[in-house]
Amino acid sequence: MNSSEAYARPTPTFRSELTRVGRGTPMGELLRRYWHPIGLSSDAGQTPKMVRALGEDLVLFRDRSGRPGLVYPRCAHRGASLLYGRVEERGIRCCYHGWLFNVDGQCLEQPCQPGAHPSAVRQPVYPVEERYGLIFAYMGPGDRRPLLPRYDVLESVPSGEFIEADDSSIGSGGPAIVPCNWLQHFENVMDPLHVPILHGTFSGPQFTDLMNLMPEVRFEASPNAVRSIQLRTLDSGRLHRRITEAVLPTVRAVANPRAQTEGPCSLLGWVLPLDDTSFRIYSAGRVKAPGDLGKIRSHFNGRLWSELTDEEHRRFPGDYEAQVSQGPITFHSEEHLARSDRGVAMLRSLLASQVSAVAGGENPGGVTFEPASEVIKITAGTQIITAAGGR
Ligand code: FES
Ligand SMILES: [Fe+2]
Repeated sequence: MNSSEAYARPTPTFRSELTRVGRGTPMGELLRRYWHPIGLSSDAGQTPKMVRALGEDLVLFRDRSGRPGLVYPRCAHRGASLLYGRVEERGIRCCYHGWLFNVDGQCLEQPCQPGAHPSAVRQPVYPVEERYGLIFAYMGPGDRRPLLPRYDVLESVPSGEFIEADDSSIGSGGPAIVPCNWLQHFENVMDPLHVPILHGTFSGPQFTDLMNLMPEVRFEASPNAVRSIQLRTLDSGRLHRRITEAVLPTVRAVANPRAQTEGPCSLLGWVLPLDDTSFRIYSAGRVKAPGDLGKIRSHFNGRLWSELTDEEHRRFPGDYEAQVSQGPITFHSEEHLARSDRGVAMLRSLLASQVSAVAGGENPGGVTFEPASEVIKITAGTQIITAAGGR
């Protein structure tokens, strides 16, 4: 748009193939080829819990023999919600007529009609697995189910540390459920140039002094998706090299920007689209004491996001304000991508190519079906190097 006359602006549009996540949509089908965290392990308990993921409402529970289950809520009999079901040794029993379903969806009992053959009835379920204190679900076609990935940075845990999970969307700055499209957050992982501006001045300084310096940035394709290499020159003349990675499909590998220490990224975040216009982040990381993960929350003028007044949210905006204010789904047609957005453009184009691959019948990148090949190597982290030491 060359004119600045607001009246003359075209009707805005967004790229639905990259943003919408429902079943049958291009991105929804791509995302359904991967495992996604849909809760903390502790969310799967004896009281059924409604969870939302990729535009679907599902009931999460754990049977009394310890197996987590994720079921379509409407009972296969006549549709009462299994949210009101009773969790038993072998599964969940519907409150209306007592049909009992196990975590695989098999109907085991129909007490209202003795002598019937309950095995003929199946309740729709999604497979789940637990890892890193999270419950992961696979919501795609059964014959394309990959192995649940492992990540090297969470597999080798030094003594004195352990893996902790968090569901409070650390990194978004705001509340656990963030009311905008998931891609607005995920592509922010490939936007390191906003750090000295938003976090260094507007909302902060929130991170270390070093992070307030404008880095020299290079973006490159990585085996996992896209990464950025950020270099900042230290007083000593040496270089601070920070690598952040976006990992297919929605994983953030971003080292804690408040940490003063060097080393590999010890924290991963999964951006879970709840639906087209909201997301949340599940995290897992190596910690030394319980609750450490939740402590890496952003502060604004020394206070937490939830403690700020409306006026302070305007004076000290953070990631939440920047991303949510782009709108429920940002208008891509109104953007002017610049050189600094090269990482965002690369990530979008990679996602678009994966959408096409799935639509064309192929498997997307980053999935694996061969046991022992499911460990994903993360290169994110920080390092001090000499100027000659590999920019
Ligand atoms: S509606 Fe669930 S048992 Fe009848
Ligand atoms: Fe940010």
